[in-house]
Amino acid sequence: RAHTYHLINLTRPVPSVALITLNRPKALNALSSPLFDELNHVLKDVDADKEIGAVVITGSEKAFAAGADIKEMKDKQYSEVYGSNFLSHWTYITSVKKPIIAAVSGYALGGGCELALMCDIILASPTATFGQPEINLGVIPGAGGTQRLARTIGKSRTMELVLSGRNFSAAEAERWGVVSRVVGEGEGEVVKEAVALGEKIASKGKLATQAAKEAVNHAYEQTLTEGLHFERRLFHSLFATNDQKEGMAAFAEKRKPNFTHS
Ligand code: HXC
Repeated sequence: RAHTYHLINLTRPVPSVALITLNRPKALNALSSPLFDELNHVLKDVDADKEIGAVVITGSEKAFAAGADIKEMKDKQYSEVYGSNFLSHWTYITSVKKPIIAAVSGYALGGGCELALMCDIILASPTATFGQPEINLGVIPGAGGTQRLARTIGKSRTMELVLSGRNFSAAEAERWGVVSRVVGEGEGEVVKEAVALGEKIASKGKLATQAAKEAVNHAYEQTLTEGLHFERRLFHSLFATNDQKEGMAAFAEKRKPNFTHS
């Protein structure tokens, strides 16, 4: 089922990890509609591929993505963007079952920052520069920037960023918990780390991994009581899997588990 992509690259640095590289270098990976169509297409494919246990999305050293494509948007009318629910296809990534790691170097601005925020884990290189500069264009973030940042870093910081349009550094992103960590310097380091993390995640039982991702994501949607209830029910449900029997038996027998994802 080979498919040719033009605005992204799909590789398999290790058999269990899909590496998606945004590839519009001349436009600093501006997220045009055709690029997003390709991204959604490839995400659907990798989500269905039983061999793949984790996905890494990255850009170039200079830019993860410099935002939605301003040139594509600039002449659009209200009737068109509202009528077509412009950008609604950006949310597909949030329904992918497999863990997605954003490996961010360089600019992650506007929609690029929002794309990273839609991933499950963000690793940043020291060169990463985040920001929601939409206010400078006479608009506001439109793919979750105001909501996901507010839930992650709080109201005051989010207000400052979104109202001033100023960028924030990898160090700030780490301090505020936007990224899980900043990796060492060096070209390709952040992708290497993300692939290694993806490979580690992919070595676990896939049913438990899916349940874990679902449970953590619930923390953003529900009250604590509801979230705890949902978590416990998912936990109970895993006792119906072979992987639970195998994982606990392996511990008791002091050996490595051999998960069969069943
Ligand atoms: C279209 C873009 C672009 C974008 C860069 N380019 N960002 N094209 N949309 N978002 C293009 C430039 O026009 C230029 O094309 C080429 O990429 C290189 O960019 P330069 O500006 O020459 O590079 P540099 O001087 O290094 O500056 C880098 C930069 C700057 C600081 C990242 O490009 C920049 O400010 N970009 C826009 C960032 C932004 O405002 N993003 C938010 C977009 S709105 P040419 O043809 O001239 O060589 C948004 C809304 C999201 O994301 C809403 C919901 C999704």
